[in-house]
Amino acid sequence: MGAYQYRQPLDRHNLKPSRKNPAGCFLSKPVCAWLACAFFSLALFHLLCCSPAGSQRAAAFSPLLSYINNTYSFVSSVPAGGAAKSCNYSEGQWVWAPGHARRYNATQCNVKESHDCIRNGRPDTGYLDWRWQPSAAGCPLPAFDSRAFLSALRGKHVAIIGDSMARNQAQSLVCLLGAAFPPHLLHRDEGQQRHNFWRYAFPAYDVKVSFYWNPFLVRATGKAEDESIPYNHVHLDQPGDRWAADADTIDVAVLAAGHWLLNGAIYYNGSAVVGAHNAPPELNYTGVGYAWPLRTVYRTAVERLSSGGRPRTLVLATFSPAHFDGSPFDSPTACTKMEPYREGEKELAWICREVRDIVYDEAAEAARSRAGGATRIEVLDVTKLATMRPDGHPGVYMNRDPFKHGVPDRIFSDCLHFCLPGPVDTFNEILLQILRKRR
Ligand SMILES: *[C@@H]1O[C@H](CO)[C@@H](O)[C@H](O)[C@H]1NC(C)=O
Ligand SMILES: *[C@@H]1O[C@H](CO)[C@@H](O)[C@H](O)[C@H]1NC(C)=O
Ligand SMILES: *[C@@H]1O[C@H](CO)[C@@H](O)[C@H](O)[C@H]1NC(C)=O
Ligand SMILES: *[C@@H]1O[C@H](CO)[C@@H](O)[C@H](O)[C@H]1NC(C)=O
Ligand SMILES: *[C@@H]1O[C@H](CO)[C@@H](O)[C@H](O)[C@H]1NC(C)=O
Repeated sequence: MGAYQYRQPLDRHNLKPSRKNPAGCFLSKPVCAWLACAFFSLALFHLLCCSPAGSQRAAAFSPLLSYINNTYSFVSSVPAGGAAKSCNYSEGQWVWAPGHARRYNATQCNVKESHDCIRNGRPDTGYLDWRWQPSAAGCPLPAFDSRAFLSALRGKHVAIIGDSMARNQAQSLVCLLGAAFPPHLLHRDEGQQRHNFWRYAFPAYDVKVSFYWNPFLVRATGKAEDESIPYNHVHLDQPGDRWAADADTIDVAVLAAGHWLLNGAIYYNGSAVVGAHNAPPELNYTGVGYAWPLRTVYRTAVERLSSGGRPRTLVLATFSPAHFDGSPFDSPTACTKMEPYREGEKELAWICREVRDIVYDEAAEAARSRAGGATRIEVLDVTKLATMRPDGHPGVYMNRDPFKHGVPDRIFSDCLHFCLPGPVDTFNEILLQILRKRR
């Protein structure tokens, strides 16, 4: 548990108030609320960033049809010609729907080994048997329909940019699409970066899907590049270089950040340090909290992706929380719940609301300041649906056959990312509806 205590205690002067919540509101809440949603440990860093040692698989896909449960996944399809009305999918509940999430074989679509729960020996499969039922009347959420996705995006380049939750969603998207339409690998970085930068084409519809791992959305050096360096140095004014170089080819961008900003960094504008969050006090940097840097990185990213006059859709994804729920991250019993939370069983932690609200605010601000322009701004609000799924994480099945030598006292659990297939596929079900909506 010690690693959780590594970070500084909350300091009133270290928190720049956001518009919605005065700083005092942070302090009145118990620190455990932070643990519900955020990481404060260096040991956990490997969860957020590093690839476990694993085989470098041949990148080519084989068709994924073997593991698809056709009986469920293709019955409900999206109405032709765009969604009939504008639905809000953010509130709702998980309802029992056997087989709903059994739509691809993650081993065959080359997901990160630690998210391939079935391969890793996770014995229970009930987490694949739920679908998200939005509470808005007349707004069922259709199962993902690859053909509808690809035909809506014919000729387009979709980029998913952000942290490892963004990767989780990007991998899900390629697996869902690839289950019906064999993809073609266009690019994959090598070695440690192989899950961080890649691009697939779906030639049948001339669609490209890229993933750019850039957990601060902007340029970051230090720990993000080399784990032996203690801090991240984050350049708030410079968009991440890999995706920014490709920005003029991107038609749809999904942006997801949050976890790394909660964790903190030393922040720069140009060459000047403008403040820090969770930096050692002896460095004397002004504490700026996480809210202001989070707003700023979204602004910098949206700015870059609104430039050049290309019509683009920018989808800002909200925070997807972890479910350690007070357990040490190396406990074999962390996130072992086998069912979603029921309505009322779990309150959305205040920090999740705060981070979600920042994303909404920035989306509203971006839409306001670009009204009438070529850029369309949308919010992909996954916070509630993700919060309700403590059962959907790999847990100890981030490791292959974790109990083959008995139950160890300590073993890492991943209670942040979702198993693939799993609840994260729902992010893409909603993304499809957002992209099909008429402007
Ligand atoms: C969806 O509804 C919630 C309230 O239930 C609201 O806070 C939010 O702004 C809405 N989301 C979108 C994308 O309109
Ligand atoms: C496929 O879905 C049906 C329900 O639609 C379920 O009963 C069945 O167990 C599923 N099969 C597999 C292999 O997951
Ligand atoms: C997934 O595919 C792999 C490799 O083709 C295969 O070994 C495995 O049995 C498949 N898993 C399931 C659940 O079908
Ligand atoms: C960086 O400095 C410039 C020039 O002073 C200013 O216009 C800009 O708003 C600053 N950006 C950030 C992210 O603080
Ligand atoms: C931080 O401030 C203290 C007290 O003013 C000073 O002694 C120390 O040298 C400063 N540290 C750095 C890294 O500037």
